[in-house]
Amino acid sequence: MSAGVSDRAFVLQQTEAHVRELLSDDASGHDWWHIDRVRQLALHIGRSEQADLYVVELAALLHDIADWKFHDGDISVGPRRSAEWLASLGVEQATIDHVADIIANVSYKGAGVATPTSTLEGAVVQDADRLDALGAIGIARTFAYGGHAGQPMHDPTLPPQPHDSFDAYKNTKGTTINHFYEKLLLLKDRLQTPTGRKLAAERHAFMQQFLDRFHLEWRGEA
Ligand code: ADP
Ligand code: NI
Repeated sequence: MSAGVSDRAFVLQQTEAHVRELLSDDASGHDWWHIDRVRQLALHIGRSEQADLYVVELAALLHDIADWKFHDGDISVGPRRSAEWLASLGVEQATIDHVADIIANVSYKGAGVATPTSTLEGAVVQDADRLDALGAIGIARTFAYGGHAGQPMHDPTLPPQPHDSFDAYKNTKGTTINHFYEKLLLLKDRLQTPTGRKLAAERHAFMQQFLDRFHLEWRGEA
């Protein structure tokens, strides 16, 4: 069965309700509001880049339903569950495959690990997800995640680690401040769309300002 325009509204509405339910009590930075922000950003970027907004919205909604960090590093769970969900709604196979492919490649896997996307829609959703890790929201999420993981906020004796493999990134035991140097400040150059890059530059500058101030206060100099 292939979904017509009216079916699309139904699929989106059912998917939103499903994801809200799945992520309702997450405290790791992947709560429903992260999904909602990524969807808004992805639609905004997708509109200016002229992407297929149906695929963009579905992939944004489903991109975090089964993160590898909470499934023993298994990156296949998210794409598989998304595909099962969309199939249960009778969505056409090409859309199912496209969304699953985007979800399989959306996640960050370490500074030295390439995460290419094969379609414009993939680039749009990946950019939106990465933007939500930057700026004021990104700072808030990073400290929320650090508390959830029980890691120290900062330790000036521990230098940031370059992660040149997905294994090294996955098994890291770091500090929250180091996460800015190991990941967040590297993101702006890894966004793919012109619209995403423009938004990232502003969010990057704001984070840099926060970190400069943080270190001044840490040393009692401000
Ligand atoms: P995404 O939604 O881009 O896949 P992640 O799952 O990598 O993001 O992370 C969710 C949030 O938690 C992000 O804001 C990210 O910066 C933050 N985070 C991830 N790993 C760490 C870490 N080791 N220390 C602090 N924050 C982290
Ligand atoms: Ni995400």
